Amino acid sequence: MKIKLQKKIKSNTGMLVIPVFEGDIKKLPKKYPEEVLSFIRKRIKEDDFKGTAKESFVGYLDVKSLPGKLLVIGAGEEGKFDRVEARKFGAKVGKAAISKKAEELTIVFPELFAKYAEEIFEGVLLTQYKYDEYKTEKDKKKKKHELKLVSVVASKGAKEISKDFDKAKLIAAAADYTKKLVNRPSNKVDAEYVARKAREIAKDNKYKLALFGDKELKKMGWGGLLAVNQGSKKDARAVVLEYQGSKVKKEKPIVIVGKGILFDAGGYNLKPTNYIETMHQDMAGAATVLGVFTVLKKLGIKRNVVGIIPCAENLISEKAYKPSDIIKVYSGDTVEITNTDAEGRLVLADGITYGTKLNPDVIITIATLTGAVAVALGERYAGLFSNNDDLLGELKGAGDYTDDLGWGLPIHDDYRKRIESKIADLKNCDLKRTVGASTAAAFLEKFVDKNKWCHIDIGGTAFTEDPKEYEQKGATAHGLRMLLRFLEARG
Ligand code: BES
Ligand code: MN
Ligand code: ZN
Repeated sequence: MKIKLQKKIKSNTGMLVIPVFEGDIKKLPKKYPEEVLSFIRKRIKEDDFKGTAKESFVGYLDVKSLPGKLLVIGAGEEGKFDRVEARKFGAKVGKAAISKKAEELTIVFPELFAKYAEEIFEGVLLTQYKYDEYKTEKDKKKKKHELKLVSVVASKGAKEISKDFDKAKLIAAAADYTKKLVNRPSNKVDAEYVARKAREIAKDNKYKLALFGDKELKKMGWGGLLAVNQGSKKDARAVVLEYQGSKVKKEKPIVIVGKGILFDAGGYNLKPTNYIETMHQDMAGAATVLGVFTVLKKLGIKRNVVGIIPCAENLISEKAYKPSDIIKVYSGDTVEITNTDAEGRLVLADGITYGTKLNPDVIITIATLTGAVAVALGERYAGLFSNNDDLLGELKGAGDYTDDLGWGLPIHDDYRKRIESKIADLKNCDLKRTVGASTAAAFLEKFVDKNKWCHIDIGGTAFTEDPKEYEQKGATAHGLRMLLRFLEARG
């Protein structure tokens, strides 16, 4: 998709998008074409339109110099237009482009829009994603809609607006990448596949890459990852991607560990019907780390970043690990398995331990770690857990900025006690079922050592039946924009 910047409306194809802030009709920008203005005035007079953020209407123009389709969108109160509203506005435009089959858009920017151009474009672009790649051509009734050109009519700031467009395009492409990996089922996306994707990303961007299979993992002692993957016919994998963004080569890296469970059947603590079906989403943390790495370089992030992705399948078979097993993880700690469905923390424990050996600045874990976090926070907030308030504040702030929200949750000493074991150094699951997200985080915390750490539990947000304005059902890429903003703000 391309962008064109203009001072006046030039195109007469596609759809013309006219935002209207709530309030005085007399204040409608003079640069709006007279035909459009009279159209809007009429509707306002008929008490049919006020410009609230809930309203929009489509019309058809019969003016040679203007596009034939017209979309008038209420932008709400001008004083309340912010980043969040801007992204929602963009989403409305993007969805209308699809439903009205417009491949070209001409969006007229009121002055305030330039400030939020990036978010507006993100909204437009994020809504264009569709997961239908396994429908064969003969099944695809309609030709796929593609937005080809966005012309922006703005009196000022053309250069900045173009830059914002390019950035929004990178971020939306990364989100699409993550969503695609999460939506694809586990017979397509297995550990080997994740490794292949990492190899592609490393090659395209000249990142350093290390890939470990069963043999290397065994030698190093990744006992958590190997135990979880025992029931699978396929090898486990660990991916380590390294991006040098800082001019100081030795600068301590920001380490991001993403949970890569390709399918979580629960193991012998098998998940029941109605819970198991969407468990190919359990690699969303991994897919988010990969998504981040697709754009680190292109966005010019100035920090050193290491991505660690432990990949396994949590299945049942005669070889699978069992409740009551005792395993030794990479840190050297022994873990009593009290529930094979609490597998994410085991693979992350090994990933974190690997991270601690890299002299990290901070360690971030991102994982569909618990269903409990959804009970606590629903589908809008990821759970944030940290041993450092400033770091948690940074991630929360990055989430607020990008509408990729997170909310701090506690790890109390009494919750830490719940993963103590009588027969091993710790157990993987507390049999009391309350505060499951916190006890899971408490488990991870054991492995971070003295490092600054923040954990993002996307168990309630990575895959949704209740999408936001600019999301679709299924994968959301929640956490991706939060992480990218966090890295950018650290620059
Ligand atoms: N991957 C799941 C958590 C999950 C559930 C993510 C639903 C997204 C949607 C995780 O491995 C798991 O099974 N957690 C258990 C933990 C329990 C056994 C302590 C859970 O949340 O029920
Ligand atoms: Mn599980
Ligand atoms: Zn899981």
